[in-house]
Amino acid sequence: MIKLNPDGMDFDQVLDELDTIKQGGMNDDIAAKFSSNSLKSNEQVQSLIQQAYSKFFSFNALFSFQQAGAAKLENEVMQICCDILSGGEEARCNITSGGTESIFCALHAMREKAKIAHPHITKPEIIAPFSIHATLEKACHFLQIELIRIPVADNLRADVKAIAEAIGPNTIGIAASAPSWPYGLVDPIEELGQVAIKHGLWFHVDACVGGYVLPFMSRCGADIPAFDFAVAGVASISADLHKYGYAAKPCSTVLYRNKDLQKHHYVPITNWPCGLYVSQSFVGSRPLAATAAAWAILKYMGLEGYTSNAQKLLGVKQRIVSACESIEGLTCWPSEGPLLMIAGNEGMDIQLIVGGMEQRGWSLLGVNQPPAIHLTLDLMPEADLSRFIRDLEEVAAAVSSGKFNDQGLLSYGGVGDTGTAPNWLVELIESAE
Ligand SMILES: Cc1ncc(COP(=O)(O)O)c(C=O)c1O
Repeated sequence: MIKLNPDGMDFDQVLDELDTIKQGGMNDDIAAKFSSNSLKSNEQVQSLIQQAYSKFFSFNALFSFQQAGAAKLENEVMQICCDILSGGEEARCNITSGGTESIFCALHAMREKAKIAHPHITKPEIIAPFSIHATLEKACHFLQIELIRIPVADNLRADVKAIAEAIGPNTIGIAASAPSWPYGLVDPIEELGQVAIKHGLWFHVDACVGGYVLPFMSRCGADIPAFDFAVAGVASISADLHKYGYAAKPCSTVLYRNKDLQKHHYVPITNWPCGLYVSQSFVGSRPLAATAAAWAILKYMGLEGYTSNAQKLLGVKQRIVSACESIEGLTCWPSEGPLLMIAGNEGMDIQLIVGGMEQRGWSLLGVNQPPAIHLTLDLMPEADLSRFIRDLEEVAAAVSSGKFNDQGLLSYGGVGDTGTAPNWLVELIESAE
């Protein structure tokens, strides 16, 4: 049992121990390993956000209303984000700690609005494709909303007809993704927007992955379906600055089409001894440093920087897609944006590829239904990209010829493999078994 050290520890010793922990137990090379654990763009981007973060290290964003500098940072980040997502002057934005909080806030606002618009509904339901991120289910759990997941269509996108048919007397809204985490595809947002309008429902678009990259891929000429406030019927959007906005964690945004919708987001409290308590989103205290780093990266990259980054991402994607075309046994699923899935053709067990790649130092995430490797693409040094492609070719050849037989895990973040997991997770997994 570790207990608080009675006399504290020497200042330098603490830092030395942290270095030892970092060197022995953290893989900083993960940027080259296709996980959204660490989207980095390039070293300059990392250096900028780190310095910006340090400058505002000790400030609490809960009290941004007391500090003109904090208000300026928030106002500017919010307006830029509204503009990127085609929200114009009408749209409103709130900064949150991550995709989960952004989604929670949007679904909460949806539910609060429904309480007024559809007071007869006591068991609210949201209809979404099976591919919607797991964290919506979690938000619904806390909000006592039932999430009804509808199987995706054959093309792995939301099935608009089936979603429309699932709308019932308790439905308060629809949710879909741009793109979905499992398949990297933008759901048919325009058609779903029409369904939402027809039934008078709130439509939430989860663009946690795509929000700050798809608009720039579009500018590069990539074929990206419309997904933001340019689409009629979209009421709210979750979009993570700490993913492809390249901000420091924790930083995400939840956007509303207008302030009438946003007003359902807030929960002002006056019934306690200290007067009005209102926080910007769900959490209370949070680092203003994350907002400062987001401000810094948005200003630094500008339209041109994000567009050129998107062009490079498309280049990385094309290299892997082209390589897979000539590797027997592997196929890349078509996707929009920066996620890319590699599946095995008939007779090829993709879990063996994951196992083989793991032995070469690539810890890859996966999808189970249907089975595929899940790549979250980022800019990569040419040497790493070539090594990845060469390893993929060699592992596929070894698997095809029966020389390799160790399956790896297709999972989200490696959950299920307890080798490096903290105690709380090991205990949770054991208790579920
Ligand atoms: C589409 C999508 N939505 C929501 C989330 C949750 O975001 P966060 O981990 O920042 O809470 C993720 C995370 O990968 C995601 O891919």
